[in-house]
Amino acid sequence: MHIGHTNTDSRPIGVFDSGVGGISVLKALVQRLPNERFIYYGDSANAPYGVKSREEILSLSRSALNKLLSFDVKAVVIACNTATAAAAEVLRAEHEDLPILGVEPAIRPAALCGKHPTVLIMATPMTLKMDKFKTLEKELSDLAEFVTLPCPGLVELIEQGLDDQEMLCAFLQELLAPHLKNPPKAVVLGCTHYPFIKPLLKRFFPEDTAFFDGAEGTARQLEKRLCEEGLCAPKENAGGVRFLSSKQDGQALFTMERFFKSI
Ligand code: DGL
Repeated sequence: MHIGHTNTDSRPIGVFDSGVGGISVLKALVQRLPNERFIYYGDSANAPYGVKSREEILSLSRSALNKLLSFDVKAVVIACNTATAAAAEVLRAEHEDLPILGVEPAIRPAALCGKHPTVLIMATPMTLKMDKFKTLEKELSDLAEFVTLPCPGLVELIEQGLDDQEMLCAFLQELLAPHLKNPPKAVVLGCTHYPFIKPLLKRFFPEDTAFFDGAEGTARQLEKRLCEEGLCAPKENAGGVRFLSSKQDGQALFTMERFFKSI
């Protein structure tokens, strides 16, 4: 019989991404675990990760993790599909005692959303290139027709703050045009930046198109892991979020808070 821990742990949880994208995951974490304190580190000075080499992404992810460890975090969530694909395995091996969770494109629930649906997977070039992704896609290939769409340039536009909707629309129009004649049944937002433009994306697809992202799944996994390891915050704790950015321009923290409130 498994006897769960009854211990608690008040230390914060670290969350990082190449920039503001992981805030879409952070929101799901805060909603599921309101008693926890979170420290969010956005590496906006080095965004985007998705067009860099695996070595570069690993080195940036390692720095982000070390930054969070300096705040004595009890667990880390890699709120970035790209960094999860490129670095999670190595970082877990380097920190065996630290729970490190990641986020992955939600292609399984998307594949199960209908009878052999067409599923458009939007993600960074790096995420789509990784073996881990290709293996999962192959494993599920009997269930759905997958179409992958690397979106270089999109993360940069979102990092700019979403104010220029016209430019974003023009970019999306060109990117999505080849996929609109036979529109997919489901769209996977395989980069944590993309949920911030979901309202815009929805305008391009039929009304009944289903959208999927990995935020909820990661939140569920984190909750389970904290419980299993006796790391949950005491119930009476007031949770909260602290934002940190590698970009030193005064606007960065303001932008992060705005993104957090917007989703
Ligand atoms: N939010 C990251 C992801 O989920 C974006 C990667 C990038 O910076 O290109 O993949």
